[in-house]
Amino acid sequence: MGIMRMGYAHVRVTDMTEAKNHYASTLGLYETLEDTSPEGNKRVFYKGWDEWDHHSVVLEEGGVGVVKYGWKVEHEADIDDVEAKAKAFGLTVERMSKGDNPEIGDGIRFVTPSEHVFEVYHQATAIGTELGTHNPEVFPRHLVGIGAPALDHSLITTDDVGTMERMLSDVFGFYATERVQTSLDDDHECVGTWMTSNNQIHQLAVIGGPQGKLHHFAFRLEDWNSVGRAADLMTMDDVPIDIGPTRHGITRGQTVYFFDPSGNRNEVFSGGYLAFPDRPANVWTIDQLGKGIFYHDRELNERFTTVLT
Ligand SMILES: [Fe+2]
Repeated sequence: MGIMRMGYAHVRVTDMTEAKNHYASTLGLYETLEDTSPEGNKRVFYKGWDEWDHHSVVLEEGGVGVVKYGWKVEHEADIDDVEAKAKAFGLTVERMSKGDNPEIGDGIRFVTPSEHVFEVYHQATAIGTELGTHNPEVFPRHLVGIGAPALDHSLITTDDVGTMERMLSDVFGFYATERVQTSLDDDHECVGTWMTSNNQIHQLAVIGGPQGKLHHFAFRLEDWNSVGRAADLMTMDDVPIDIGPTRHGITRGQTVYFFDPSGNRNEVFSGGYLAFPDRPANVWTIDQLGKGIFYHDRELNERFTTVLT
């Protein structure tokens, strides 16, 4: 299978106390470690209640935006495979040592054509869940706030979506489930792509914009009701909501976009249809982008394209 999922999103926050309140109390993530980075920055590690590995979100104090993403492969040998493909694509790949990230094994690291740092690894400390695997209940009884089960996907920006799509295809074996194009003609330009390696509707989406920026990272919820309840809790906790609850035409996902206290955009996401590589990608043209992104409003808000971290 190669890449199984986005294992972790490591992001920067301006104020750790405020950030902890948001990610732990509102989103309900479980803190698994607090430490100091080699550069001397405070870090906090989190996992969702339905995640087995040590962490899926890392907050690092000092700025905003994304530090890096970790991608977990199914087999140890997949690391070598991805490394060979990344080199063949022309990327500069370095080896990452066990312990470079707490509780994560060795692997590789490279900077993508979009100027994001990707790490690829296989081993992570499995700390398990409260439910376990033996006759498990369906959710933990004492969830906090939204109680997000898991990290789901991210959306990043780049000035060359086509090259990034090709890299994700050639190096990660991803395929596009949805695309936004300048036209349906053969000479179209791809300005947005939603990509996955499995049946998840997308693991990473890429849209046109500045290099190296974060648009949002998203947490998976169970259904529409959970998305609505999440929005209620955001109001209770005075979390700035960007848009929603609403639905995406692209992916059919149900969503709320909101901001953490540092201004990084988060999303809670549910639904989306099952993806298969033999299903042709849905293609949206730019004139219908409003409906594609916000299916009910049918138009983008200005923040969608301007607020990035
Ligand atoms: Fe999203």
